[in-house]
Amino acid sequence: AYDASPYLPSRGGLAAYRRAAADCRGCPLYENATQTVFGEGAESARLVLVGEQPGDQEDKQGEPFVGPAGRLLRQAAEEAGIDMDAAYVTNAVKHFKFVRPGGGKRRIHKAPELREVAACRPWLLAELDLVRPEIVVALGATAGKALLGSSFRVTKDRGALLSLPVEGKDEQPYVVATLHPSAVLRADDREGAYAGLVADLEVAAEALG
Ligand code: URA
Ligand code: SF4
Repeated sequence: AYDASPYLPSRGGLAAYRRAAADCRGCPLYENATQTVFGEGAESARLVLVGEQPGDQEDKQGEPFVGPAGRLLRQAAEEAGIDMDAAYVTNAVKHFKFVRPGGGKRRIHKAPELREVAACRPWLLAELDLVRPEIVVALGATAGKALLGSSFRVTKDRGALLSLPVEGKDEQPYVVATLHPSAVLRADDREGAYAGLVADLEVAAEALG
């Protein structure tokens, strides 16, 4: 089965994990992507935001949420009273999955398969273990399922403080799930979707105090 576990270092901080993740071949997604996009932010962050996977811009620049979805997320976070510069930002899957329609230059995002999300999950769990945040924001269904299991649904689970089951840990972070910022960009009712994203992020901001 696809699995990143053999590529994880047995010790070290975020920097060691980032270096090791650069060489991960735990699933086939490394083959066509430019680079691994590991999480970014301070190891002391109280808040972790988890997206789905890097997009086109993130794949090129090597950093999470630096494209259009990231811009929207930053704006929504600011409105909700969240300081993104103090947060740790990452993705459920660390390589960009895409198709080239008609074999052209344009790369179109393709949703990762469950087995790719499962393969990459050890990196995400390691990041959470190292950062030990108080709150985790799951952006969209992929992040929600990676954190809370396959029964997760954005529509039923969003906007509430949920506890994250972490085996063998006393202090469990809370999870707040919301829409993916890309879903806001695609929504028919973009204003309504954006307001919903801000409202859910306010739940996380409130919990952070
Ligand atoms: N969408 C994501 O889920 N993550 C990114 O880093 C960029 C876009
Ligand atoms: Fe490894 Fe995740 Fe990249 Fe797959 S997507 S190769 S598991 S880092």
